[in-house]
Amino acid sequence: MKKIFKILGGVLAIGVLAVLGFVVWVQARGIPTYDTPKLPVQPVAITPARVLQGQKIVTAMCADCHLDRQTNALTGKFINDLPPEFGKLYSANITQDKAHGIGAWTDAELVGLFRTGIGRDGRFRMVMPNFVHMSDEDVNSVIAFLRSNNALVQAKPIPSHEQEPSFLGKMLVNTVMKPTPVPTKPVLTPDTTDGVAYGRYLVVGRYKCYDCHSKDFKTNNALVPEQSEGYLAGGTRLLTPTGEEIMSRNITCDEETGIGDWTEAQFVQAVRYGKAPNGLLKLPMPKFSLMSEQEAQAIYAYLHTVPKLKNATAEDGAVAAR
Ligand code: HEC
Ligand code: HEC
Repeated sequence: MKKIFKILGGVLAIGVLAVLGFVVWVQARGIPTYDTPKLPVQPVAITPARVLQGQKIVTAMCADCHLDRQTNALTGKFINDLPPEFGKLYSANITQDKAHGIGAWTDAELVGLFRTGIGRDGRFRMVMPNFVHMSDEDVNSVIAFLRSNNALVQAKPIPSHEQEPSFLGKMLVNTVMKPTPVPTKPVLTPDTTDGVAYGRYLVVGRYKCYDCHSKDFKTNNALVPEQSEGYLAGGTRLLTPTGEEIMSRNITCDEETGIGDWTEAQFVQAVRYGKAPNGLLKLPMPKFSLMSEQEAQAIYAYLHTVPKLKNATAEDGAVAAR
């Protein structure tokens, strides 16, 4: 009997030491640093068409996190729509300022960050979404816009705020949240007349709807988005600008809990203008006001090919279960 207690005590002690060791390791590493990705990227030619396309993407995909309403430019701010469990996180100044913005970054360094999540200094940019499936042409358009003379990106000498991740934030960034590998092949925009293929591209590549609309950021699969838990069936917890908890909704075509009973016109209205059949959609659901009708229709067509999942969220009357 005594021997058993001794063994159990030993096992427990090793367990406690392992946990302590892990805690110390996570605290010491903080946000990890990696080798800076080296991509064979040529400087992006800035054309009016790219600046226009870039404006459309940046307005929909970057401004919600990077636009400071006080400066009316992409000077960075406190990220107020993430649950506080991740800590206090801030987006960066991405105006053309050489010291505080991205004025000194090369195009290759920007592409490296968008593809892998690793900055030019090697530090992993947690929270900054990676754009693994965005086409090379769309990435070039984003860069063309960042280099353009649009007021949002003109140099503003405002320092970016340092990150203050919680222990959970640090743990995630050292375990499950890892840089994504550099693409080995060119990433092409699919044929825009092939509704379903184009719609999939918009959902996983250009607008990343799946990022917010699956079960949880922690279980999303950046490389194979379709393998994210509860793909497109909603459930991710976010905060509204006034700090109330809000859950993303089921956008699979389940008739009861998803959007299976919506017409194409209703869907287009909801996505472009935030007008859903049962009321106005709140932030952080982005306003995709610059999205074309054709893009919204392609997304609608694609969603009809995605496996239906039953998942009741708040607007279906479900009470959030922890
Ligand atoms: C969910 C919020 C979010 C979205 C959306 C987002 N970013 Fe970021 N971004 C961040 C955060 C947070 C950081 C800072 C990370 C850090 O310093 O650890 C960052 C950092 C960056 C940086 C690096 C700047 C630096 O000095 O370190 C660039 C460049 C950038 N973002 C560009 C973009 C572009 C372009 C888009 C849209 C295509 C975008 N971001 C969308 C949150 C976001
Ligand atoms: C930053 C996170 C985020 C992104 C990205 C996002 N959404 Fe949403 N979406 C939400 C949230 C949160 C709601 C719930 C809003 C509410 O309750 O008022 C929502 C609601 C919706 C609804 C209403 C569904 C219903 O049943 O009423 C539709 C449709 C929708 N989103 C489509 C999209 C599409 C399509 C994309 C990509 C083009 C997208 N969303 C990208 C967060 C997001």
